[in-house]
Amino acid sequence: MHLLVLNDNAPSKGFLNDWGWSLLVAGRTRFLFDADTRGGILLNNAGVLGVSLRGLDFAVLSHWHYDHYGGLSLVGELNPGIPLYAPPGNGTMVRQWGFRVREVTKVGEIETEVWSSGPLNGFEQAVGVETPSGLVVIVGCSHPGVDRLTRAVLEVSGYEKAHLVIGGFHYPSARTLDRLSELAEFIAPAHCSGDDAKAYVRKKYPEKFVEVRTGSVIEL
Ligand SMILES: [Fe+2]
Ligand SMILES: [Fe+2]
Repeated sequence: MHLLVLNDNAPSKGFLNDWGWSLLVAGRTRFLFDADTRGGILLNNAGVLGVSLRGLDFAVLSHWHYDHYGGLSLVGELNPGIPLYAPPGNGTMVRQWGFRVREVTKVGEIETEVWSSGPLNGFEQAVGVETPSGLVVIVGCSHPGVDRLTRAVLEVSGYEKAHLVIGGFHYPSARTLDRLSELAEFIAPAHCSGDDAKAYVRKKYPEKFVEVRTGSVIEL
């Protein structure tokens, strides 16, 4: 099973790049978590990585911010009829893009071995997915706090600890990162985490720090 970073704020040679976040989960089920700002970037970068954006089982949107949903129209076009698990809002648009609307209003298992935190603060969800290495928690921007989102996913999935937490942590405080370190074996700050957060985790928890950028592939 692999996690492929189709776009992150941090660029890589040979890939297109902008401010946004999109992660492809490729295992027994294939799904996209968030869709960056532009479908063209996802398509290009998936091509560079040698994976297809077609044949997804479903897609997940963390929250309705453009740097996460901008590419969804293309993803829907390439995968007509698949469910999009998104916090409430913009249902008509979701249908126009070709998805089946699956509004996530509460914590729970949304697909087999994929759990949602439900929309915290009413608007942002994270998901946990079972992998051969354990539970991987994927976050978007973490406006409600990456520690809170992770804890919600751990509670609903029944895991004590996450194998990995990956995504945007939204310029977290040191206290938030300390709390997160108790909940996760590995930590991959990406997207809007900020250089300070990356440096903090790298220095204080070197055994947990995982560096990711556009084009990174993580094997689980
Ligand atoms: Fe964001
Ligand atoms: Fe955001």
